Amino acid sequence: MTEDDLFTRQSPEFLKAEELRRQIAHHDRLYYDQAKPEITDREYDALYRELVELERAYPELILSDSPTQKVGGRPQGAFAQVRHLVPMQSLDNTYSEEEITEFVDRLHRLLPDAEIPMTIEPKVDGVAIALLYEKGRLTRAATRGDGTTGDEVTRNIRTIAVIPSLLSGDFPDVLEVRGEVYLPKEAFQRINAERDEQGLPVFANPRNTAAGSLKQLDPNSVAERGLSAVFYGFGAFEASEALPATQKEFFEALKTWGLPTNPQIWTASSASEVMAAIRELGAIRHDFPFETDGAVIKVDKIAQHARLGSTSKAPRWAIAYKYEPEQARTRLHDITIQVGRSGVLTPVAELEPVFVAGSTVARATLHNEEEIVRKDLRIGDWVLVEKAGDVIPAVVAVLTAERDGSERPFVMPTHCPVCGAVVTRTEGEVAVRCGNPRCAAQVRRRIEYFASRNAMDIAGLGEAVVSQLAEADLLHDVSDLYALKAEQLLPLERMGEKSVENLLAAIAASKVQPLWRLLAALGIPHVGVTAARTLAGAFGTLDRLAAASPEELQSVEEVGEIMATAIHAWFRDAEVLALIEKLREAGLNFGERDPQDAVPAADGKLRGTTWVLTGTLSISREEAAEMIRLQGGKVSGSVSAKTTYLLAGEEAGSKLEKARKLGVTVLDEAAFRQLLL
Ligand code: IVH
Repeated sequence: MTEDDLFTRQSPEFLKAEELRRQIAHHDRLYYDQAKPEITDREYDALYRELVELERAYPELILSDSPTQKVGGRPQGAFAQVRHLVPMQSLDNTYSEEEITEFVDRLHRLLPDAEIPMTIEPKVDGVAIALLYEKGRLTRAATRGDGTTGDEVTRNIRTIAVIPSLLSGDFPDVLEVRGEVYLPKEAFQRINAERDEQGLPVFANPRNTAAGSLKQLDPNSVAERGLSAVFYGFGAFEASEALPATQKEFFEALKTWGLPTNPQIWTASSASEVMAAIRELGAIRHDFPFETDGAVIKVDKIAQHARLGSTSKAPRWAIAYKYEPEQARTRLHDITIQVGRSGVLTPVAELEPVFVAGSTVARATLHNEEEIVRKDLRIGDWVLVEKAGDVIPAVVAVLTAERDGSERPFVMPTHCPVCGAVVTRTEGEVAVRCGNPRCAAQVRRRIEYFASRNAMDIAGLGEAVVSQLAEADLLHDVSDLYALKAEQLLPLERMGEKSVENLLAAIAASKVQPLWRLLAALGIPHVGVTAARTLAGAFGTLDRLAAASPEELQSVEEVGEIMATAIHAWFRDAEVLALIEKLREAGLNFGERDPQDAVPAADGKLRGTTWVLTGTLSISREEAAEMIRLQGGKVSGSVSAKTTYLLAGEEAGSKLEKARKLGVTVLDEAAFRQLLL
């Protein structure tokens, strides 16, 4: 090191740049590796810009490992690494109309005398993904990683219903499409509501949840999240025909290949037209199923992309415009308590109604007491509200400067506000619970949940009707539904003859719902829809499931120790057993009436055979299991000496090994289909 260097390394500019790099690296780690950012994108961008400006003013400060010289997000260890055929770059961000004008001016400086049409499309706030299709078949999926190398997440990507495993139409031989995997706002809302209810920490936003989901090692739990995707660009492209000439044509081509795209794309030829499109998009973006934090402006003609080139980090032919996050000021009138299905007490902010991000907000969950203390939220405060993931209203800040001393701190009740039972706090959980399973609020929530779409799916039995019936003292647990009589309902308000008839018919029809729906509806701790399907498939009847030991439960793939213990304990609770007997008397299907247990056709090809399914198939395992059952076969969760066949999809693991050891016949999907012909 020369003396000169030494001097530079102690200069305030150098130290400042070092500090910024350290902070940026820290926030990159939180964002990319842990999917748990601590600062907003805007704050991150501000740090980043400060560094860029400092480096621009003092180029000697630029180090090769500066974050300005690379795309964020180092690859992780758990997944195989994939080198992108063409690096996945990032985009420069702007926040103002002036910068859009500068961008358009620069394009014209770089390509003098050329016409430069542009497209404007939503900037989807998801996780960047590259899919490789070879001869129309999805062969590989990778995350961006550091831009050069990413995680191979093909198995997880295959669980996303909107991503075709085969392209349709006229596709190039080799095609690498790029897009964004996202968690639909609705799914985000559902997942968080469930987590909140279970006293688990809620996810911050759909983007983090999607990123976290893709990093799960078990594709089945990825499937459960309900991810989706849109595509907007390409990396490698080998075609017999020429490349599409424009972004717009590429957008159309994506659709013909069966790949989901952004719902709308605008065109413009001047900065003012670009701004007009940005405003139009801004007005409708909250209606999209994904979150958008901006608009992406791209040069439409693909031939011009190469002429414009890119910097080490981002192309010169595109730029992202970021919208101001939408927040609103309002008054916190009160904090009330909601009691959930499992007794969790959730504090709820009662707000002066205010319009934000597309709709009026009057209530917001505050999750738990710790959250209120952390924010130092007091009743009567002025607060800022935002929508997490564009859907869930959240109180993000307290305007303490507005306080006049009349604000009151919130105290978590020591007794359930609905039934008066003492509340308890489980060690290690932030949630506080009402310990009385007969609490009227819990009972209502459980009945609503039982009747809901993903459970027993009883039409007409929503929140309002459940409340009404509970208030009329007609419902104390879900089994009471099956004892309801027309003469009890007719005297109630808004219960005409027709609606009573429909409601009773819907309730009666639910008796023959398949077992998995009943299992999902009962509210067994840790058992959601996917687990319910798995359990129904593995055990066949409620009684077999109820009798299963924790070891037997855990032998089912996808059932871990926590779930196994919870299920086992739940079926040994006296109240639960009493409820189950009432449901049996009411005549509910406990699995005996499911198609898999119907007496198989005498000529069922698979009669007398027992199957275990493993690995990834081109159809879902549930579908494969159904095909087997229809032919008279049985499907079991674990390989044993009784197993006749193991149907092994791609990347089968321990079950395949075990089957080989036991000498069980192993069939791949092709052989399986052959057998069914
Ligand atoms: S085009 C060379 N279009 O935003 C990069 N990107 O902040 C071209 N993104 O890396 C990207 N929506 O992951 C493009 N409609 C869209 C987008 C989009 C979201 C992501 C993408 C990109 C990041 C930059």
